[in-house]
Amino acid sequence: MIKRRRFLKGVAAGAAVAGAELAVPALALAQGAKIKVGLMLPYTGTYAPLGVAIENGFRLALQEAGGKFGGREIEFFKVDDESEPAKATDNVNRLVNRDKVDVVLGTVHSGVAAAMIRVTRESGTLHIIPNAGVGVATGALCAPNVIRTSFSNWQSGYAMGVVMSHRKNAKSVVTITWRYAAGEEFVKGFKDGYLKGGGKIAKELWVPFPNVEFQPLLTEIAAVKPDAVYAFFAGGGAAKFLRDYAQAGLKDKIPLVGPGFLTDGVLEAVGSAAQGVETALHYADSLNTKRDKEFRLAYAKAFKLQPDVYAVQGYDSGLLLAAGLKAVNGDVSRKKELIAAMEKATVDSPRGKWRLSRAHNPIQDIYLRKVVGVENKYSGVAVKALDDDPAAMAACKMR
Ligand code: BEZ
Repeated sequence: MIKRRRFLKGVAAGAAVAGAELAVPALALAQGAKIKVGLMLPYTGTYAPLGVAIENGFRLALQEAGGKFGGREIEFFKVDDESEPAKATDNVNRLVNRDKVDVVLGTVHSGVAAAMIRVTRESGTLHIIPNAGVGVATGALCAPNVIRTSFSNWQSGYAMGVVMSHRKNAKSVVTITWRYAAGEEFVKGFKDGYLKGGGKIAKELWVPFPNVEFQPLLTEIAAVKPDAVYAFFAGGGAAKFLRDYAQAGLKDKIPLVGPGFLTDGVLEAVGSAAQGVETALHYADSLNTKRDKEFRLAYAKAFKLQPDVYAVQGYDSGLLLAAGLKAVNGDVSRKKELIAAMEKATVDSPRGKWRLSRAHNPIQDIYLRKVVGVENKYSGVAVKALDDDPAAMAACKMR
């Protein structure tokens, strides 16, 4: 089993190894200019491991395609967005206007992604979102050149809400999350699914992003004594929350549930603190399909670590871009045809096959998972073929 410290080292080394494997002979270079892909991802801060896993997944898809998409090599331009919305416009402008990239891949944080979209809509640069679930991306700010390969925050929030709405012993829930777009949307989705079952939200608790001072709020949860707690945190913040929840003595008293980001990519770091936590997500560790097994083996071989949902999203971004570029023989100037091919594609993903909605968000099965050992073990389908929040879809005026 790969340990946490080795995991972080492996991530950096893995990215370097993959880069070396992608080196190409001079003959290939002479056949055409490289396609410029700008990676705008977090490489520092609480979401850094997510950014690295996305890049690894994308590089694996490229490696499996022989180092070329649409017959052309890829040249990477990288920006660390630090999950900092205030720096997002400058950062994306660097890629779009200075480096003149053909494609922007980014990002993880919803607030940063929303700022990026305002720039890429204007420039028309093909923008693939490999994580950030912010509703406006495929809602009010939807655009032909903005395509999400991951999820909307509402989707997994809603699915967990539906599951909890059917539980007779879950009549009151406390929610706790970071106060920013993603946290707010994960809670909205949860309420949309949960409240129709007749349960009530006993209290909504909020923490400024990316703070991890949970103690006073855990004391409040102990006083309220809800039937369950629903939490969204991710990356380093999720690991800290899971440990603090267990240390506060709550783990065996009040069941903890959430969207799957709460427990993805952190289980080796948190040890026994997450055992039994149930979450909903579009990926799980033991799907046991041939496609997923092959992906997991290839990822482990390339990067010496186990993949998580973020790696899958990066990988799927590569698969979808490859499908688009294949249709135009690598000619990125044929943007309409490129996008039309991406819209038509069925992505044969490790998570299961999926397609884009009219608003460019994946329509996908959301799985229920339970932490057993160091796995987010699949325990069933929470909601099948789920599209986005109806309110977001109605706000998308693309066509
Ligand atoms: C978001 O900001 O949209 C987000 C970040 C981490 C995991 C999931 C969603």
